[in-house]
Amino acid sequence: MRRELDKFAGYAACKSPEALDEETRALGILKLDANENVYGPSPKVKAALASFDDAHIYPDSCQTELRRALAGYTGVSAEHIVAGSGSDQLIDLLIRLFVSPGDEVLTATPTFAMYKFFTELVGGKFVAVPRDDEFNLVPEKLIKAISKKTKLVFIAMPNNPTGTQIPVDAVKKIIETGVPVVVDEAYYEFTSQTLAPEIDNSPNLMILRTFSKWAGLAGLRVGYGLFPTAVAERVDAIKDPYCVNAAAVVAAKESLKDADYLMGNVRLMISERERLFDALSSIKYLKTYPSEANFILCKVKSRIALQIQVLLERRGILVRYFNSPQMENCLRFSIGRPQDTDRLITELQRIGEM
Ligand SMILES: Cc1ncc(COP(=O)(O)O)c(C=O)c1O
Repeated sequence: MRRELDKFAGYAACKSPEALDEETRALGILKLDANENVYGPSPKVKAALASFDDAHIYPDSCQTELRRALAGYTGVSAEHIVAGSGSDQLIDLLIRLFVSPGDEVLTATPTFAMYKFFTELVGGKFVAVPRDDEFNLVPEKLIKAISKKTKLVFIAMPNNPTGTQIPVDAVKKIIETGVPVVVDEAYYEFTSQTLAPEIDNSPNLMILRTFSKWAGLAGLRVGYGLFPTAVAERVDAIKDPYCVNAAAVVAAKESLKDADYLMGNVRLMISERERLFDALSSIKYLKTYPSEANFILCKVKSRIALQIQVLLERRGILVRYFNSPQMENCLRFSIGRPQDTDRLITELQRIGEM
């Protein structure tokens, strides 16, 4: 085993409902911890999977039809597009493509944990520029931290776990430095802000998207990248040929055909985000941060966030707990349906009275 991985901590994944005791499961689990889509996939996806008959055949390693459909959806031609087993896999592949041991990967923290995870896995150095007190990325600070060793800059737009958005013009300033920039648009459908029109003219811009959030396919693992053609060709060369499984390809294609229906659910979540934001803001022991994604981050004041997470879990509600130097005593709540908001808020109020 590589000795340098002895201390590699791994990723603290969310607890699966399977891991909970029977008593808690009997309450009906409300999963608000992983920014999934409570409405689930399109009914057309379920129908297509029910009649799917090709599980014995390896999927198309070039994902020809999926990439063609994605070209229609994104307005970016298919030679720029690579699909992967979730955008997580594309983060991994980009880092493996650009970063040698000792090279630097730069980002503004707190942010999505997998950037650090995959950087350290290849022996790269993760360089973290702190966001400001409201978790905004400060472009000037990020640009100042670019060094000769910087091989990739990651910008989550909007950011997870904070929900903070960054203006497109600020990202363009970072792209203008010429350093390779990955704009992670996992929550694009919740904001409609994108750098996709820049792909043709920006040889150092890479964009990541996913079907996990807007299309409700987190469990099937399918994401895609919009890359300069030179990068797309190299990512294609180093990826596992069958990385997007055949069922995921069927589900992704059906989702694109039913995008109007799925975007209806996205609109429901966006309006529920506003309602949840107001409801959380009325809870005195929480400081709420505005979000442009499908979740809301709160700092817990005068209470212990971990205790609140445990109390909620006992009532069947799973939420994400953070406690790092930059995110002390925080909880993140994914957006649910109106009845999910009501259940969560009732429990948070009950805890407030304890
Ligand atoms: C910013 C960001 N990027 C990427 C991902 C990974 O998504 P996927 O399910 O496509 O691997 C997530 C998932 O939460 C995310 O928040």
